[in-house]
Amino acid sequence: MEKIVLFSGAGISAESGLKTFRDPDGLWKRYSLEDLATPGAWSRNPSLVLEFYNARRRQLGEVEPNAAHRAVAELEEQFAVTVVTQNVDDLHERAGSTNVVHLHGQLNQARSTMDSDLILDLGFRDIVLGDLCPKGSQLRPNIVWFGENVNNLEVAAAAIEAADKVLVVGTSLSVYPAAGLIHHASAQAEKVMVSMDLDSEPQRFTWLQGKAAELVPAVVETWLSGG
Ligand code: OAD
Repeated sequence: MEKIVLFSGAGISAESGLKTFRDPDGLWKRYSLEDLATPGAWSRNPSLVLEFYNARRRQLGEVEPNAAHRAVAELEEQFAVTVVTQNVDDLHERAGSTNVVHLHGQLNQARSTMDSDLILDLGFRDIVLGDLCPKGSQLRPNIVWFGENVNNLEVAAAAIEAADKVLVVGTSLSVYPAAGLIHHASAQAEKVMVSMDLDSEPQRFTWLQGKAAELVPAVVETWLSGG
């Protein structure tokens, strides 16, 4: 079976109604990343950080996967698919993808502040000050903040290296080390990138400029029909 890696960023979930980070109406244009998504922010003002992620999580409970997520799930009919995502939403899983590698954590999980391996499923519930892990420390969102270690980098790099086709969707490729992963794609692999906008033409990838919910189903249809 041919292997496919789908590498996604916030743009794949934009048409579900979740804001991206760096587009003109993106989250980091409206909110200060330094006040919300760093270990320093958490130590200075944990309730502000919790409220920001509680709002994101509640919103996630109100949205649905879109045609791009669903098309990616359909690839499993004929290919061995690994989804490597920078996204913290669960829309790939809800669309039916069964092998999803999260690099930046998951919004619907809480994590112990005492033991980073102690992760609890939250669903769409809030975390508030005083919510404790089984070992007695405050719970925090299971999100990788700036300055923290990215999860699953090795497994993601190995999947990309081994892939026959790599499809990159909806990422500005501006946050490292995640963005650097695409350079692991082999020279022989078919490499396609779908994004509304990019700062510069991607090297080695064919760039299809436009919306994920329109272009990803078209790419998937071509691949499923042997093209
Ligand atoms: P960005 O907001 O940086 O980039 C989103 C990309 O998606 C841009 O290139 C847009 O042009 C494109 N885009 C927007 N709408 C689209 C659509 N409908 N169809 C296709 N493309 C679209 O988001 P990321 O690259 O995911 O980290 O950001 C990387 C990381 O920065 C995130 O994982 C997050 C953030 O801080 C954490 O949460 C730890």
